[in-house]
Amino acid sequence: MDVRSGLGWDNHRLAAGRALTLGGVTVPSEFGLEGHSDADVLAHAITDALLGAAALGDIGMHFPDSDARWKGCDSMVFLSHAVALVHERGYRIVNIDSTVILERPKLQEFRQAIREKLAAALGIELERVSVKFKTAEKVGPVGEGRSAEAQAVATIAKD
Ligand code: C5P
Ligand code: MG
Repeated sequence: MDVRSGLGWDNHRLAAGRALTLGGVTVPSEFGLEGHSDADVLAHAITDALLGAAALGDIGMHFPDSDARWKGCDSMVFLSHAVALVHERGYRIVNIDSTVILERPKLQEFRQAIREKLAAALGIELERVSVKFKTAEKVGPVGEGRSAEAQAVATIAKD
C-alpha cells in the first residue's frame, strides 16, 4: 500500500469586524481572521496538508491571493479542490489531525460542528477527523491575541 502524509501550517492576523471562521464554521467572537479569502486558518492548514501529502505544491499555487476570484472566498472551496486533486491521483484520505492555536474565545463547544463540516468536505467519517485547540499561554503574537495559527497532518493512501 502507498501511504503518504502531509503537513500544513497557517497563520492569520486577528481583527475587529471580521468573522472567525474555522473549518467552515463561524464562531461568535469579538475578533475575526483577516485575509484575502475568509481567512479560515484551519481550512488552509488542512488544504496544505492534503496538497503536501500528494506533493501537489501549496495553497497559494492553486489559489493565488493576487487573484480577485478568491477575494472573500469560502475557504472550504479550497479544501474541496484539494480533496478532488487527491482523489484524481487515486488516493483516499485516511485521516486528518489538526490543532488551532488561538488565545480566545474557547472553541471546545464548536469542536463537533467543525469536525462534521470538515468530514463532509473531506468525504470521510467523523472519527477520521481530529480537531484540537490550544492557547499560546499569553506568549507571542498568538498569545497576545494578535493572530491565530493552525497546524494539520493529513494521511492519504492507495492500494
Ligand atoms: O492551551 P491550553 O493547554 O491551556 O488549553 C487547554 C484546553 O483548552 C485545550 O486542550 C482545549 O481543549 C481548550 N481550548 C479551547 N479553545 C482555545 C484554546 C484551548 O477550547 N481557544
Ligand atoms: Mg491562510
